[in-house]
Amino acid sequence: MPYSQEFGDHFYCREDGRAECGHVFLAGNGLPQRWRHRSVFRIGELGFGTGLNFCETWRQWKETRIEGANLHFVSFERFPMLAPDIGRALSHWPQIKAERLALCAEWPDLPQGRIDLDFKDGMRLTVMCGAALEEIGGFPEKFDAWYLDGFAPKRNPDMWSQELMRLAYEKTVEGGTFATYAAAGFVRRNLQAAGFTVERRPGFGSKREMLCGVKSTSGVA
Ligand SMILES: C[S@@+](CC[C@H](N)C(=O)[O-])C[C@H]1O[C@@H](n2cnc3c(N)ncnc32)[C@H](O)[C@@H]1O
Repeated sequence: MPYSQEFGDHFYCREDGRAECGHVFLAGNGLPQRWRHRSVFRIGELGFGTGLNFCETWRQWKETRIEGANLHFVSFERFPMLAPDIGRALSHWPQIKAERLALCAEWPDLPQGRIDLDFKDGMRLTVMCGAALEEIGGFPEKFDAWYLDGFAPKRNPDMWSQELMRLAYEKTVEGGTFATYAAAGFVRRNLQAAGFTVERRPGFGSKREMLCGVKSTSGVA
């Protein structure tokens, strides 16, 4: 179970981070159903960490994708981990063994700058190494779904600031969505102020609530 000394928080819930990813980030964004109708789908993530969300998303993508479709997973990460550490953390889940091995085999020895990896099955991974606030604005494409995964809001408020939520909103297509395990009042307010229509849903495991929402400039969620 990876733990960040710097932020004083675990990288995912102690119950089952892979199951949490399915509940919060995939189901919270209406996935995999939404990507079934699309030839190209783009997911943005704040905080790549161990790549657990990426590997679980890739696993579900392989099971549900339509032939020829492409998924571009773009993650913003300030402190990229090294391949042996990623491999050790993810080896906890036999369900994502194939994805873990493929990711670790391609992951650069010294991760920095922009990392672009093309995998089979129409899966492409980009990791933008640096502070999310500085990287998002310069990314050329908008996203269909966001995974907001930047540690607990009270431990890392920078990853939930109004400015960053506004940038995420700008980089979301009309009808695009976000999901997060966070339920703190200031996170909800920042997301609403950015323009998202925000909904509270039951959280994973022992967490009472989580947030998800949609960018709908017509006002209809
Ligand atoms: C909860 S962990 C992410 C877990 C990850 N999604 C996974 O699947 O393992 C949060 C991540 O956010 C990164 N982070 C923290 N502050 C950041 C910032 N300002 N910009 C970009 N990344 C940041 C941390 O280094 C950490 O890897």
